Parts: sequence; structure tokens; C-alpha cells
Amino acid sequence: MNKISVEKIIKLKNTSNITMITAYDFVSGHIVNNSDAEMILVGDSLGMTTLGYEFTNSVKLDDIIRATQSIARVGISKLLVADLPYKTYETNESALSNALMLIDAGADAVKLEGGKEKSQIINFLVQNNIQVMGHIGIKPQSVNNISDYKIVGKNKSEEDNLFEDAKRIELSGAFSVVLELVDSKLSKNISENISIPTIGISSGKYTDGQVQVYNDLIGYSPNILPKHAKVFDNLFEKAQNAIDSFVEESKRNFK
Ligand code: KIV
Repeated sequence: MNKISVEKIIKLKNTSNITMITAYDFVSGHIVNNSDAEMILVGDSLGMTTLGYEFTNSVKLDDIIRATQSIARVGISKLLVADLPYKTYETNESALSNALMLIDAGADAVKLEGGKEKSQIINFLVQNNIQVMGHIGIKPQSVNNISDYKIVGKNKSEEDNLFEDAKRIELSGAFSVVLELVDSKLSKNISENISIPTIGISSGKYTDGQVQVYNDLIGYSPNILPKHAKVFDNLFEKAQNAIDSFVEESKRNFK
């Protein structure tokens, strides 16, 4: 199967048909690659789903590099986007050298959080042939308290700010932008007024695509899942049952 390109993602603008799912290792990479999603995101949500941190800002570049390498070993046909973790894109130079490490690890593009304040760095990466996905609305790398996860863009000043952020990201040359927990009316307005695809998470149904976290979708977590998570199964419980069955059999048979 042909590899999905950035150009293909851009062409899907206005189809509401783009799906991105996170993955963190060889197995989740396989499963998402077997689906009809267009993009795999090596998200820094890996901090919570896999490493047991409370927030994403504990994730290091090496964590994302290792995860990206293991997913790349699957031989994926999706566009592979890797997150630049907290404080790895403070200057043009650090952003470029860290982004190049993710590309070396197998990523096709990088994602970074921030609006107008990051537009110059996005543009610098793009000028250096790095494909960039923006991320505005709730920016998890700035979250230190669970109560910060709430819908933004409901009042006029937040709305104006986020609209300008989206425009500046588009002008910087990013190929798409994630809208996280953005008011649905504003998401629609942004999606209709920028030329690059918007990928929403808890931002209503009018974005060009949707992104979700792998572990949330399959219910594979010991933690209470975020309110906005979409959950389709309970793999954590199923795995626990399998392990318990083996332990029980082993103790019964070998006493
Ligand atoms: O790290 C992540 O999983 C993300 C998505 C929620 C967009 O950034």
C-alpha cells in the first residue's frame, strides 16, 4: 500500500474524513496501521498512557524517539507524526535539531504546541523541509492541573485569540493543526477559514478530521479516562482476566 503523504492529507480538507490515532510502540503501531486512519501520532500522551506520569511535560525527547523507532519498524503506510516534547522547541536551532532527530527515528512530520508565539519557529522548520502540524486550544504541555482540561474559545477574547493563532499557524506553512477542546462553533469557523486541515479532539464535529488516544479508544488504562475520551472497549479488564486465568491455572495444576 502506498504511503500517505502530507499532500494527501491537505487534499482531504473539507471532507471531514481525516482520522489520526496515537500509537506508542510496535503493537499499537501495527493495530493503527491496519486501520483506515490516515495518520499515526506518536503523542506525548505517551507520558500518561505508557510511562505513568500525570502530565505530558515529563516526557523527554528520547521517549518519543524510541516510540517512533518502534512504530517505524512496523513499516507503516500512514503519515507518521511525532510530538516535539515540552521545552524541545524553544529556539529555532533547538527545534530544528530535535525535529531532525524525530525524522531520523522515522517520523514524516512533527507536531508542536502553540499559536502565534510559535509561528516563527514553525516557519523556520518548514523552511528547513520539516513538515509541521500545529496544536492549539488546550495545550497539554502547559497543563499542570486536571481542571485545566476544559473547553476554550467560548468568550470573545479567547475566540479572537484562537482564530488568530490558527491563521498564523496556516501562514507559517504548517500542513495542518490540532484543535483540542475548542468550542465547536469556533472550531467550525476556524475550519471554514483556513486552508489547512483542522484535526479536532473534543472540539465538535465540524473539523476536517478527528484525533483520539489509542489507550482511551480501546479502554486500556488503569486510570479513570478523561471525560472527553471516546471508549469502544475494555482491553484493560480483558488483559487482567487473561493474566488472572493463567495465574489461577498455574497455581491449580502445579501445587
Ligand atoms: O499527545 C497526544 O496524544 C496529543 C493528541 C491528544 C492530539 O497531542
